Amino acid sequence: MLRDRICDQDKLTKDDEKEIISLIKKKIKNDDFFVNSSFFNRDDFKGKVYLLLKDEIEKKYPYSDFDVEDNLINKALSEIFGLGILEKFLQDRMVTDIFIQDNEMIIIKNGIKEYLGTVFNSLDEVYLIIDRIKSNTGKTVDQRVPFLNTVLYDGSRCSIVIPPISDRVYISIRVFNCIDFELEDLLRLNMFNKKDYDILKDLVDKKKNILIAGSMGSGKTTLLNTLVKLIPKNEFINIIQDVPEIKLKEHPFVRMLCTRTKSRESDNEINQDRLVFETLRMKADRIIVGEVRDSMAAYQMLQALNTGHRGSFSTIHADSAFDAFLKLETLAMEYKTNISNYVVKQMISRAIDVVLFLDYEKDEDFNICNRRLKELLLVDNNLSKRGDYKLEYL
Ligand SMILES: Nc1ncnc2c1ncn2[C@@H]1O[C@H](COP(=O)(O)OP(=O)(O)OP(=O)(O)O)[C@@H](O)[C@H]1O
Ligand SMILES: [Mg+2]
Repeated sequence: MLRDRICDQDKLTKDDEKEIISLIKKKIKNDDFFVNSSFFNRDDFKGKVYLLLKDEIEKKYPYSDFDVEDNLINKALSEIFGLGILEKFLQDRMVTDIFIQDNEMIIIKNGIKEYLGTVFNSLDEVYLIIDRIKSNTGKTVDQRVPFLNTVLYDGSRCSIVIPPISDRVYISIRVFNCIDFELEDLLRLNMFNKKDYDILKDLVDKKKNILIAGSMGSGKTTLLNTLVKLIPKNEFINIIQDVPEIKLKEHPFVRMLCTRTKSRESDNEINQDRLVFETLRMKADRIIVGEVRDSMAAYQMLQALNTGHRGSFSTIHADSAFDAFLKLETLAMEYKTNISNYVVKQMISRAIDVVLFLDYEKDEDFNICNRRLKELLLVDNNLSKRGDYKLEYL
């Protein structure tokens, strides 16, 4: 038979696999767009790898009916990006966090911590992963600078700390794109009730400036992402983030801007404030700042919102809706030391229309659960005669 002449095996050999993977690795590495576009959809990315593999197999064995097995796709992914055992967890949509401490690993899956025990045979394997992360991102971590904050090829946030400043090697990864929620999903998950759901939609419609407050992992970015999706498609939206976490595939007028840390001599550090500045020149209808951290950016954002940018959203680390004001005041005054507290408060009251505070509970194993919209605070544009905010909790 023809097929037998061309291929007398019923499975790809290890050498075939190696050759095919190395061919698609070359293709992918030469295609920046391919890698960058993976930020937007993990399944899509896997799908593309599948198509490339299929293509190469068909070229090599045109008359065979070899399947592109999941196993081969996973092998290709781990070979291409070289993160070994991590790849499996980066592909698992239920895994939100991965922690490595020396050769042990812990994951958070479906909100539950799972201790996986020793998964690396030696520390060398862990350092190999660090080397791969370094070479994929062009950053360094060594004795001189023993920590590294970076983004993996798929958009996951990764931070590395190594001895001597720590007792062990720690790698912490917040897996990207775990679940791409819609506002309705969050309603179903009980993050808020139907009344608040309607209020949230109304706030976006009415172009209110929204600040989402909460502690780490409370769901700020997730909620922000669902609100941003409700913005009409004909508006210019500038999104400023440290990591491209907010995704807006359907909107044609989105401008994504990402900060850059300095990790090599040749890098220029790009901060939030610079991106806010650029945004103002780009005539954005809405400014979305992933998370306000930077004092200069906080001040600039307040100024931008005071000069008529409506419908802008941001998040901030804070322990209550009211605490968010204190945080913003502190940041702004850190930058403009000669400005009075009264003026900053005035700027904030004019800039922010509503603060949403997210809270959560922890179960007996300290797993985060029951993320909820705890406070919805409306802010009057003017301060009281005594110079206090005029607030209304809904
Ligand atoms: N209502 C929810 N139900 C279940 N999981 C959720 C919910 N909201 C968010 N998550 C998940 O919780 C994790 C943390 O969410 P998110 O990144 O939005 O938090 P964050 O407050 O922005 O955290 P950080 O302060 O680190 O930026 C994500 O993996 C997200 O998918
Ligand atoms: Mg966040």
